[in-house]
Amino acid sequence: MAKPRKPMDNPIVDPAPLPDERRLDASLRPRNFSEYVGQRAVVDKLRVYVAAARKRDEALDHCLFSGPPGLGKTSLAHIIAAELGVGLHVTSGPAIEKKGDLAGFLTNLAPGDVLFIDEIHRLSAAAEEYLYPAMEDLVLDIALDSGPHGRTVRIDVPPFTLIGATTRTGLLTSPLRERFQIQERLDFYEPDDLCLILKRSAAILGIGLDPEGAEEIARRARGTPRIANRLLRRLRDFAEVEADGRITRELADRSLRKLEIDALGLDPMDRKILKTILEKYGGGPVGIETIAASIGEERDTLEDVYEPFLLQMGFVQRTPRGRVATALAYRHFKLKPPADKSGQGQLW
Ligand SMILES: Nc1ncnc2c1ncn2[C@@H]1O[C@H](COP(=O)(O)OP(=O)(O)O)[C@@H](O)[C@H]1O
Ligand SMILES: [Mg+2]
Repeated sequence: MAKPRKPMDNPIVDPAPLPDERRLDASLRPRNFSEYVGQRAVVDKLRVYVAAARKRDEALDHCLFSGPPGLGKTSLAHIIAAELGVGLHVTSGPAIEKKGDLAGFLTNLAPGDVLFIDEIHRLSAAAEEYLYPAMEDLVLDIALDSGPHGRTVRIDVPPFTLIGATTRTGLLTSPLRERFQIQERLDFYEPDDLCLILKRSAAILGIGLDPEGAEEIARRARGTPRIANRLLRRLRDFAEVEADGRITRELADRSLRKLEIDALGLDPMDRKILKTILEKYGGGPVGIETIAASIGEERDTLEDVYEPFLLQMGFVQRTPRGRVATALAYRHFKLKPPADKSGQGQLW
């Protein structure tokens, strides 16, 4: 069984919804393709696949969505079920402990329904194997009694769509990955898209948000809708206590600084990671395990939450020998790259 993730020190980037956030997530979650901002390339394809499945009155092919936390994977699963007009059954890899748990879900599906398995890379090997014949041939082998003389019966499951979400497809076994006919990776959002999301959220929550205030948050939200919405709520507190309630650019900038989020959206943990590579390991290459041990954070959290953004921003590169800080990282911290690094080709 996969061990549960340890709660993170930094609630702004924590991938899991915070305690009071589930309700809020539900109210801010886009309900259909039109409300889902950005990710145009992915959404345009999904619209076609969904329309085609509806037209043929068939279940949609199985879908796998990957990408860092908070980019809209769960939202897409909800939207697809809604747009298909079918039921949605939600579970997650770690929640399925026994084969029976999965059998329970699969036998309760109505034809065409969506089964959403979040964190599907954390499914046990036994559960995974149980899933294959269901995904491929719509059958399930149920063991009647265990032991050497155990019998199994084969039962049919109705046509259904499995939607899996994962932070990294590389964590999935290839037999499982290959059974998804539709595979899409979600990218970080552009500031313009985050602005639209922020404006919509502010309207729903009744928060006064200036366009310039939205831009400031959008630029510093790590390209991630969930983080943008979190920052919006934190900044509302500052606006109500320290100003007249409106989030202006000035208020956004001042408050984000208090939250220790810098002009590019780096937070204290990002800076700690970069400084560790830069100062403790001479700019790298340094292995991810070593970085994790140095800063006291889990390797998985580093790879799922922090690294994708640092890679995207061009502060870090992955090399076969480990992580390397780029010239941009040196410049961001006003450090001089060591002379012997200047020959490192593409990094410099
Ligand atoms: N494309 C989007 N448009 C609008 N809001 C979004 C979008 N993607 C995510 N969100 C917001 O971010 C929150 C987190 O998204 P979620 O689907 O739970 O991400 P993930 O499952 O990838 O971690 C949602 O509740 C929603 O408010
Ligand atoms: Mg999710």
